[in-house]
Formats: sequence, structure tokens, C-alpha cells
Amino acid sequence: MFKGKARAYTNIALIKYWGKKNETLILPMNNSLSLTLDAFYTETEILFSEEFTEDRFYLDDQLQDEKATKKISAFLDLARKKAGIAYKATITSQNFVPTAAGLASSASGLAALAGACNEALHLGLDDKELSRLARRGSGSACRSIFGGFVEWEKGHDDESSYAQPVPSNNFEEELAMVFVLLNDQKKDVSSRDGMRRTVATSSFYQGWLDTVEADLYQLKQAIHTKDFQALGETMERNALKMHGTTLAALPPFTYWSADSLKAMQAVRTLRNEGIPCYFTMDAGPNVKVLVEKKQEEIVRQAFSDLFSPQQVITAHAGPGIKIIE
Ligand code: ADP
Ligand code: DP6
Repeated sequence: MFKGKARAYTNIALIKYWGKKNETLILPMNNSLSLTLDAFYTETEILFSEEFTEDRFYLDDQLQDEKATKKISAFLDLARKKAGIAYKATITSQNFVPTAAGLASSASGLAALAGACNEALHLGLDDKELSRLARRGSGSACRSIFGGFVEWEKGHDDESSYAQPVPSNNFEEELAMVFVLLNDQKKDVSSRDGMRRTVATSSFYQGWLDTVEADLYQLKQAIHTKDFQALGETMERNALKMHGTTLAALPPFTYWSADSLKAMQAVRTLRNEGIPCYFTMDAGPNVKVLVEKKQEEIVRQAFSDLFSPQQVITAHAGPGIKIIE
């Protein structure tokens, strides 16, 4: 019997990962850069035993169906192969984040699972190798191995595609991300399906590829010089472009709801009133607002008034993966 448990925090991309060049290895089309956050995380325990006859996956105390379990089993096969064992496993995972609502449960979920496997099977993977393993479960998970600002280097094969921390002189300690929870239900189009459809059919996708490197460069410059305005403007522009690509997909789709637009407009209004803050969105309707800590309370209050206090959660920079004894 082998047992391991890990906690991993979600991360939100400031420069998005949007599109794969290799679906099996999960190699992305472009580098991405994220901020790991302290407010949302996953804890996963795994038990491998000779006596188990099948993999069982419990998420938030619910035994998961065949489809969800198959995805996990495929990932576990990678870890089993590394360890040279064939034992089946029972996985018990708690998401302290809404699942599949565009709040990056796949990032914290698969990173925690990779960490738990590393521990249980004594794989001895260092952070870089663990990032590569997590990537095979869900692309964005490779960034949740590390805390603070993290860049996923796209690479060109399994070996060269992994995340690493971005030197920041502690800039992340000055920042807050205010989550505006507009809908925590499972979304219709997963990020995996959404990006696949976009790469395959969107006539706007080339525009994304043509400009994402320049966005990344500018964002890294903004981190380097601790320029909050440049950081926010670049992040917001990059998110809008990513979401633009979905409108030209076949069939077209969007992750935005009427409330998302309302929240985006509220961010612009706050800016016009002299409060520097910027939004980003992922594969779901929820809006995340980046603001300097010194003004986070103003932003939290504004969105609590516009929606309700229960729908607003403030996060700060979070740590990398942790093994739980
Ligand atoms: P999100 O925006 O929440 O990341 P996605 O559609 O990208 O939404 O990913 C959701 C998927 O991530 C789930 O359907 C499941 O396959 C996986 N996932 C979420 N939480 C966990 C977890 N704790 N352990 C393993 N896999 C998870
Ligand atoms: C919009 O990492 O969930 O959140 O690799 O297919 O599992 P898979 O996708 P996933 O996609 C995340 C997409 C995004 C942007 C980002 O986090 O960079």
C-alpha cells in the first residue's frame, strides 16, 4: 500500500494558454504566465493498493462517473509507468474552489494529484519534473507547482515544456485579485474543448498567435519594473484577445454572460474614477479583477454593491505545492 497527500493552489493566467500543438503530450501553442493564488486550492489523497481492482475517484465526497475516472486513470498510468507498478488507486479529492466554472479547478486539481502521486510512489521528482507530469493531466496545472508569478515555457517536446517561477522582486506581494463569482455551475464548453474548437476553426486564431509573444514580453517587462498599469493593461488586452478568438470559431461560442459584461464595465468605471484595476477571464463567466493591495477594499466594496458580498472573494499571491503529512 502506498499513500500520499498534497495541496495545490489555483493559478490565474495573465497571459493565457489557449491552444495545443500536441494534444497527447499537452504541448501548448504559446508560452503563458500566471499568478498562483491563496484563496482557492485542492487537497488530494491517493492510495495505491495491490488489492484494488479498479481506480476510484471521489471528488468532494462524490464517487465520479466513468468518464471522469477514465481521465484520472490515464493520468495515473503515467505515474504507474514511472514507478514500475500496476496497482490501482483510490483518489479522494476536495476542491476548495468551484469545479469547472472557469476558476481553474483543473489547475489545482491535477497539480495536487501529481504531487500526491510523487509522494505516494516515491517518484522523487523535483519541481521541474513534477511540473512536466502535472502538465500531462491539464496544461495549466504545470504552473500550480510554483507560487507567485510563473511562466510555462511551451517547449517543443515532453522534456522541454514546463513551468518555472518568474523573478519578480516580490511584486506579487503588492497585488490582489478580486474574484467576482457570477456563476459557479459547470460550464457548457470545457477549456479543453473550447481551445480545441478554436484552434481548428477560428479565423481569429492566427491573430492570437501573431501577438501573444509581444504581450508576454510586455507583461514580463511590467513585472520587472513593477509597473502596475502596464501589467494590468497587458493582462486585460490579452484576455480580450483570447475571448475574441471564440467568436469566430465554428460553431461560435463565448464564455461571457450579461453579468460578465456588467462586471467588465464596472472595472472601466472604477478606472475612470481614478482606481487603477484591470480584469481577466478564463473559460467561464466569472471575472477576476487585478488591483494593488492598497486599493483592494474599494474594488471589493464596489463589486459587493453591484452584485452581493457573497459573490466577491479577494485572493492574494499563493504558494507552490505542499505535501500534507
Ligand atoms: P476549470 O475552469 O474549473 O479549470 P475545466 O473545464 O478547465 O474547468 O476543468 C475541469 C476539469 O478538471 C474537471 O472536469 C476534472 O476533469 C478536472 N478536475 C477538477 N478538479 C479536480 C480534482 N480535484 N482532481 C482531479 N481532477 C479535477
Ligand atoms: C483559459 O489547463 O484547463 O484557463 O490543458 O486541456 O486541461 P487542458 O486545459 P486547461 O486550460 C486553461 C485555459 C485557460 C487559460 C490559462 O489558464 O492559461
